[in-house]
Amino acid sequence: MLSYQHIYHAGCPADVHKHAILSSLIVKMTEKEKPLSYMETHAGRGVYDLQSAEAVKTGEANDGIFSFMKRTNLSHPYFKLIGDIAMEYGDGIYPGSPMVAKSLLRDNDAMHLMELHPQEHYALKGNFLRDKNVHIHKRDGYEGVLGISPPMPRRGLVLIDPSFEIKTEYNKSADFIIKLHKKWAEAVIMLWYPILDADNHKSMVDILQNAELPKYHKSEVRVKSKGMKGSGVIMINTPYGLDEDIKHIEKWFA
Ligand SMILES: C[S@@+](CC[C@H](N)C(=O)[O-])C[C@H]1O[C@@H](n2cnc3c(N)ncnc32)[C@H](O)[C@@H]1O
Repeated sequence: MLSYQHIYHAGCPADVHKHAILSSLIVKMTEKEKPLSYMETHAGRGVYDLQSAEAVKTGEANDGIFSFMKRTNLSHPYFKLIGDIAMEYGDGIYPGSPMVAKSLLRDNDAMHLMELHPQEHYALKGNFLRDKNVHIHKRDGYEGVLGISPPMPRRGLVLIDPSFEIKTEYNKSADFIIKLHKKWAEAVIMLWYPILDADNHKSMVDILQNAELPKYHKSEVRVKSKGMKGSGVIMINTPYGLDEDIKHIEKWFA
């Protein structure tokens, strides 16, 4: 099903949780000089205009990035990045996960982005036209990432960010992580999921918690958002020292 468009939700509180953790992960992983492979199963269009009719219609950024940017007590590489992008491209231009990653990765890191929606894929391609190390695939994200794994360089990070429009997406994500880990054992894997009143995420979390995956870490926060009571992230092969950074991010939502 491809009716979901992230422009209606860009910059929402869950995006802040997800993109801040993603930024922390990339900052930590780029402390070592060795190059990385970065992949996304569900990339979206990469950049969003929060002043567009779609974003204004839902106003989800109001309790999200707009509210966080007003809180002068918060410091984190993610907020610096948001400020730098607004300075460069204009007020209201908000980075999706591919642009967050691109801003923090180096020229010798490779990016592989999967996006199946024709319009979103077209926009994503347009947003990264000049970036030779960014490879954009119009391909199912699960099949695509598994197909090119393990990549070179083998040090790397995979973001899984489905829209969860159908209930089966939860267990599908869990199965995918287990399969991907078997093919590419050293990959750092990050999965984002919504926490709904129906608690659809619970069986997925149980599967992953019981799968004996290395350096498993879970972060869940409450968010003020339409139809969502919380935002969750599961990571495996979590880099050493990231726990402190994640606790810091969780406090913003307390
Ligand atoms: C939640 S959005 C991604 C948001 C993006 N990761 C971000 O944080 O900026 C999910 C995206 O996945 C795309 N999509 C849905 N099913 C897909 C699939 N099987 N393979 C690849 N992309 C898919 C949708 O078109 C949508 O653009």
